[in-house]
Amino acid sequence: MDKKATLKLPDGRDLEFPVLGGSIGPEVIDIRSLYGKSGMFTYDPGFMSTASCNSTITYIDGDAGVLLYRGYPIEQLAKHCDFLDVCYLLLNGELPNKPQRDEFVGTVMRHTMVHDQLNRFYMGFRRDAHPMAVMVGVVGALSAFYHDSLDISDPEHRRVAAFRLIAKMPTIVAMAYKYTVGQPFVYPRNNLSYTGNFMNMMFSLPVEDYKVNNVLERALDRILILHADHEQNASTSTVRLSGSSGANPFACIAAGIACLWGPAHGGANEAALGMLQDIQKAGGVAKVGEFIKQVKDKNSNVKLMGFGHRVYKNYDPRAKLMRETCHEVLNELGLHDDPLFKLAMAMEKIALEDDYFVSRKLYPNVDFYSGIVQRALGIPVSMFTCIFSLARTVGWIAQWQEMIGDPEYKIGRPRQLYRGAVKRDVKPIGQR
Ligand code: SDX
Repeated sequence: MDKKATLKLPDGRDLEFPVLGGSIGPEVIDIRSLYGKSGMFTYDPGFMSTASCNSTITYIDGDAGVLLYRGYPIEQLAKHCDFLDVCYLLLNGELPNKPQRDEFVGTVMRHTMVHDQLNRFYMGFRRDAHPMAVMVGVVGALSAFYHDSLDISDPEHRRVAAFRLIAKMPTIVAMAYKYTVGQPFVYPRNNLSYTGNFMNMMFSLPVEDYKVNNVLERALDRILILHADHEQNASTSTVRLSGSSGANPFACIAAGIACLWGPAHGGANEAALGMLQDIQKAGGVAKVGEFIKQVKDKNSNVKLMGFGHRVYKNYDPRAKLMRETCHEVLNELGLHDDPLFKLAMAMEKIALEDDYFVSRKLYPNVDFYSGIVQRALGIPVSMFTCIFSLARTVGWIAQWQEMIGDPEYKIGRPRQLYRGAVKRDVKPIGQR
């Protein structure tokens, strides 16, 4: 028997709404007919209790600290797969077998170059531009270069656009970095792995040989896996909403990058490292108590960056894997005494014993340790969110494709609770 929810309206009417169940996770009350039946809207700023779509891609259990990509636990994917395996999984719903993987990797690695005229596009930015500003501009401009993959109603156009974005994002990110440090762009090398190629484009110089360190390559590849998708977060919802108007895929991904840049979202890794560096400068672990006091003071507007999450009310499973990756990278580089890592672990311990954080279920999220490991890998702070964008591109595309393929797909257009002026007449300026 179909489940129903009943809503008693102020005028005494009882309205019934279907309750829909998923494969796992919370059921939903289908309120699409509410306005038509009642003339009322629901009200949910920040979408704390709103499911915007149905999806088969990523599942998060915030209370249990569980993250599944197409049903596979993130811990297993981080251990047994590489980033391109995970890209294939997110896009196709299954992990690839050997022939499928070889074809997928071959296609991605043959699309790594960008249109050569894009080089001049970068020249329009100031050298001290934030790399995320460059990313938003360049990715949005791709629709000016690739006219044969803009028609979202054409599955072949969507497929080509997906490959171009996944394949070219490392090149675009590395070019943004090279431009800001005044070094020459490095062309992709298709004989390297996806992540090894990215490291080569980031760190190699024309004047000396560069050899990819396999431990560091594996660590960075795992960081990309951890950031690949995360259900209907702010930037993914931005991509879906942009895509719902029929905008081309490059414009939608540029919108996602712009949203991810915010410090409450993907910009938190840059903010978290800055926070740790400031505390380190002020005196290190001895100053943690004073900082936590500031955080607890509502008037300070200071947050413990890299802590807290809208969904996770337990430890973010990605933060655990990121902390393990930190250990591996710092040990490989002989930096096991890295003061920032020690400071971060001390802060985590102190916060998790403090009632302010415990009572609000605030735990480290993916951004708390990612800055430390990226800094150890030689990635400058300003590039952290660019790396996040690189990784999340496949998640955004998978979600965008799912939306376009959804029979319930329509333009997203929320309403409002209006509290402004009621109708009034314009008075001549002399009477205002
Ligand atoms: C990402 O959505 C996703 O999935 C995002 C992401 C992804 O992969 O796409 O996981 C990536 O964005 C991770 C989150 C990175 N952001 C940060 O680390 C920034 C610091 N965190 C906070 O800004 C905050 O925790 C949010 C934005 C992440 C979540 O905010 P919510 O869900 O709106 O929670 P809230 O602000 O209502 O917080 C509830 C309480 C408040 O206190 P009270 O009003 O109850 O007294 O907890 C407090 C908040 O002030 N609080 C914090 C805090 N986070 C929440 N207090 C201090 N430090 C913090 N970090």
